[in-house]
Amino acid sequence: PLTAQVNSNDQLTIGGVTVSELVKTYGSPLYILDEEGLRAACRQYREAFKRYYPGEATVLYASKAWNCLAICAIAASEGLGIDVASGGELYTALQAGVQAPRIYFHGNNKSATELAEALDVGCHVVVDNWLELQTLAQLSREQGKTVPILIRLTPGIECHTHEYIRTGHIDSKFGFDPNQIEAVLEGIAQEKSLDFQGFHAHIGSQIFELEPHHDLPAVMVQWFLKAKEIGLSPSVLNVGGGLGIRYTEEDDPPSIEAWVKQVCTAMVTACDRAQIAPPHIICEPGRSLVGSSCITAYTVGSRKAIPNMRTYIAVDGGMSDNARPITYQALYRAVAADRMGEACTETVTLAGKHCESGDILIQQAQFPPLQPGEAIAIFATGAYNYSMASNYNRVTRPAAILVGNGQGQVIIERETYQDLVSCDRLPDRLKSIS
Ligand code: LLP
Repeated sequence: PLTAQVNSNDQLTIGGVTVSELVKTYGSPLYILDEEGLRAACRQYREAFKRYYPGEATVLYASKAWNCLAICAIAASEGLGIDVASGGELYTALQAGVQAPRIYFHGNNKSATELAEALDVGCHVVVDNWLELQTLAQLSREQGKTVPILIRLTPGIECHTHEYIRTGHIDSKFGFDPNQIEAVLEGIAQEKSLDFQGFHAHIGSQIFELEPHHDLPAVMVQWFLKAKEIGLSPSVLNVGGGLGIRYTEEDDPPSIEAWVKQVCTAMVTACDRAQIAPPHIICEPGRSLVGSSCITAYTVGSRKAIPNMRTYIAVDGGMSDNARPITYQALYRAVAADRMGEACTETVTLAGKHCESGDILIQQAQFPPLQPGEAIAIFATGAYNYSMASNYNRVTRPAAILVGNGQGQVIIERETYQDLVSCDRLPDRLKSIS
């Protein structure tokens, strides 16, 4: 949900602030995040669980979608826990003030150092593979600590989304193969330092179908029963994230409420069949929490018209601030931020500024005739944009502004040229090149 409006001057406003004014103040490209929209999505998840789930429910923010101090703090203040997928994401969540037990550490190749950090702070660890299980058992034994763990399993559920963001099928790098789970559980039962709490699975991302989320709880409840049979006491099932969002007008994803309802109904049904009480359910959405609540503003630059073919309009960012079009052929929608009332009479290809032909943000975008220097806005850039941003061509990463109640505040500073060389080192012998 984005609190976007058009003011009486035909200008796009977000959270009560005019987009082009923000660009004048803070420069461009600029990520503009609507605080109310983000908070509303957090509440929709939590309220839907209250409505549809009879047991305990926890919503985690999958911070890989956009991990930074302010967003972790907002999610935590809405009562969400945080899913982290690296030592860096863990560090950021802790710096934002999130309590360690509310953090769940994911990843298919956590290093021994990262596992030690997790143990040190006391967050949950979602164990992905044998090496990790052994390392964690050894570390916790050595330190005389117990570590709360979930076991990630590959559920063997297919879904229809881009190949790169599917994770639930058997041929996936994530999680334990179902054939191995029994041995894993038996191993855990022998290891006192591992506090086994239950299972985790994640099917994929940007999913519009509800069926995979219907099938998943049934698979997970079977493993829950198996764990009990082996003598463990599981209490948690974490069903991952994955709900898609609307990027273009053709997209028609289910609502947060419909998704939660489906997950809850499927879990309750599976538990009834198995004659067990509904476990503590956890889910961990990323995109559907933060994706729609952000726009990226750019400034229009050069134009190249190729007769009878196409017109390229270039902006001052591109694949370095939004890698999704070039990586997943992802589609986006854009508008001229100060001319919201004007008819779109031009179809152009919106290009980035990077030295790469594939750096195209939108293949076919409709605008009023664009002028150099004017602001455009691309919608739904909150998820996997900043978090996947790079310095390709040594372009500085944009600033991010949090807007609400008619005010904007910097939550991420724009990088400077000095930042770009801050990790570079020039060996003495290279210092006097003639
Ligand atoms: N949990 C786990 C274990 C995950 O791997 C992911 C996403 C999530 C939760 C959150 O999924 P969401 O609710 O955001 O769909 N960079 C890609 C998306 C990669 C998703 C990675 N895992 C993109 O830009 O589309």
